Amino acid sequence: RDIFRPQRQNSRGLNLADLELLEQCRQDLAELSLQTWDAAPLVPGCRVAGAALAIFSPFERTALVGNVVVCDAQTVDRALANAEQAFVDWRLCPVETRAACLHKAADLLEQHRLKLVSLCMREGGRTLRDALAEIREAVDLCRYYAACALEQFDQPLRLPGPTGEDNRLRQYGRGVFVCISPWNFPVAIFVGQIAAALVSGNSVIAKPALQTSLTAMLCVRLLHEAGFPEQVLQFLPGEGNQIGGLLLSDPRVAGVAFTGSSSTAQLINRQLAERPGAIATLIAETGGQNVMIADSSAHEEQLVADVLQSTFNSAGQRCSALRVLFLPEQTADKIIARLIGAMRLLRVGAPLETTTDVGPVIDRRALAALFAHIDYLQDHAKLLYQLALDDSLKNGNFFPPTLAEIPGLSLLKQEIFGPILHVVRYSGDDPKPVVDAINATGYGLTLGLHTRLNDTVQYVQRHARVGNVYVNRNMIGAVVGAQPFGGMGLSGTGPKAGGPHYLQRFTTEQTQSVNI
Ligand code: ALA
Repeated sequence: RDIFRPQRQNSRGLNLADLELLEQCRQDLAELSLQTWDAAPLVPGCRVAGAALAIFSPFERTALVGNVVVCDAQTVDRALANAEQAFVDWRLCPVETRAACLHKAADLLEQHRLKLVSLCMREGGRTLRDALAEIREAVDLCRYYAACALEQFDQPLRLPGPTGEDNRLRQYGRGVFVCISPWNFPVAIFVGQIAAALVSGNSVIAKPALQTSLTAMLCVRLLHEAGFPEQVLQFLPGEGNQIGGLLLSDPRVAGVAFTGSSSTAQLINRQLAERPGAIATLIAETGGQNVMIADSSAHEEQLVADVLQSTFNSAGQRCSALRVLFLPEQTADKIIARLIGAMRLLRVGAPLETTTDVGPVIDRRALAALFAHIDYLQDHAKLLYQLALDDSLKNGNFFPPTLAEIPGLSLLKQEIFGPILHVVRYSGDDPKPVVDAINATGYGLTLGLHTRLNDTVQYVQRHARVGNVYVNRNMIGAVVGAQPFGGMGLSGTGPKAGGPHYLQRFTTEQTQSVNI
């Protein structure tokens, strides 16, 4: 079949090999690091009041990034009323106008790239490289969804009928969409969900993770500047367990786009099911227990490089990240030795260096959960290596990259969201028992495979119930339009972000049959 390529190009981002540009970028970021930011609900007709919460940097827990005023029940109610009213016109707003706003938003995101990068780093703990990639992804998602919307919604689909009958199928937004996003991609996922909902004709209430409210607020301001009306896109910062319940129990909500943990997705599903009124749509992109399988034909150097990137990039705080590496008995010792050698060279900290491999985890709670997991491993597994961290990092939320050997996948009861790699040995090169174990977890997000055997590639692709299969490469950083991203089972409902079918779930269809 032809390659699906809606009219647009992915962003080129910044060329970090250009040393002059890089130096300028560093200077600008150093200046921006002196600025503090504010976030508060953006709900027309509501006066913002209340105490502000201080947000400190994961790199340095005493460094203030800014303050956020969280919203109350009255603000939530007003936002829902506004969104319901705004939907009436937005639903009928021409697709070209909505897509033009998204193109403008992409331009603005690029123009304000360094402010966003600065916030992603200071508030979200992203490394420079990760932050730059993230802004690029957000830009790509805006342009891709704009192009998809024009291609898919601009004209009604004409359908056959008997002579004298004209049949047309049109797509409209569903209504008020609540977009709930995580802290680990405070720009790309936050903007991506909102962009899809808006361009499909929904009014949007955006609820970012509390930890990255400042970054989210800047994104919303840019989207407003791009032309999305303030009633059509509203912003509600706050704790999920406080405002989530108010939003999700309200019959005015027509759909929810959620990215976060599997357990929260299940909670949202229950809340939506129990409310009165129309049946709401849930689009959930959740966690994974992601595995890479290597067999004895794998190219060892490439395997080690891909394992390191897949595990430690973003300090392992990607839903796509590698958690468990399956190694064949016959090569396991050699590969483990190579992995430890490569882990010794990982660079942790240093936010402004492009060579930094591992940044901090988001907060003390995340750090405590990882240390608790290490305690669990002490009793149930063999710790093979842990990088010693420099004392200068003790004021940040840094967790040492860790390698442990475990007897099997079933030892891990939940997603481990951090820089910890587990290794399991398996005998022979038979992928079947490994694929069975992966399917038995119930998760199905990413899967990596290193092999030079075509039969193995085919077997794994056909039998593993996962959303993204990566062969002989790393397993993170899905590219918009090329690697639509998202899982199945406990890992999400689909459709895939950055893919050709994503917008469909944000719309509802109307058939018109006219007797002419
Ligand atoms: N979409 C992100 C990735 O592919 C999570 O790494």
